[in-house]
Amino acid sequence: MDGNGRWARERWLPRAAGHRAGVAVLTPLIEAAGEAGVGALTLYAFSTENWGRPETEVDSLMALFLETAKGKVPELNERGARLRFVGRRGHLPEAVRAAVGEAEELTRNNDRLNVYIALNYGGRAELVDAARRMIEDGLTPEQVDEATFASYLYAPEVPEVDLVIRTSGELRISNFLLWQVAYAEFYVTDTLWPDFSPEEFRRAISSFAARSRRRGGV
Ligand code: FPP
Repeated sequence: MDGNGRWARERWLPRAAGHRAGVAVLTPLIEAAGEAGVGALTLYAFSTENWGRPETEVDSLMALFLETAKGKVPELNERGARLRFVGRRGHLPEAVRAAVGEAEELTRNNDRLNVYIALNYGGRAELVDAARRMIEDGLTPEQVDEATFASYLYAPEVPEVDLVIRTSGELRISNFLLWQVAYAEFYVTDTLWPDFSPEEFRRAISSFAARSRRRGGV
């Protein structure tokens, strides 16, 4: 959800106002994803690298996550979204961890759309955590193949990523779902996240649908 900071700067507002504007587009987009028949949508909310931002911004983001959980989770629950979180939960503030657990519990029986929130998420951290758990479980080298490895990821039930949408014109992967994006298609737009609309989301889906995916074949 890139470009919140730039959206705020263009308006002479503090960065926190950009993140707040970024929250406002979540519900229409999640609704549009449900209507388009998207099975799983992952939103990158906070990376393992984002702790390096100024303390005031980190604190305001954590407060915003809590506020968003309070305001949006009941609404998303009514719309049939199942919420799950991927990332290193242990490092999150206690109140955020509690809100994450409650949101998962409340929405666990929903099946219209799976929404994953990547929070304190890093693709490398996920791979390291998977390797650690395989070692803890005493797996032998012969037991570690791609299917086994994938079963140790944070959300093994989620299918591989089909489409990555990157806002604000960035041409990087930025440690996002490194394993899962192996064959993903990319849609990059200069639109800043707070301006990203359901119409553009549908354009991204159409662009994806028109591509031919060869996955290493011909
Ligand atoms: C990146 O933009 C955005 C973030 C680090 C925060 C995104 C979080 C939200 C929109 C809140 C959503 C909350 C939930 C629970 C889903 P940036 O600050 O890097 O923008 P810039 O590149 O323009 O500086």
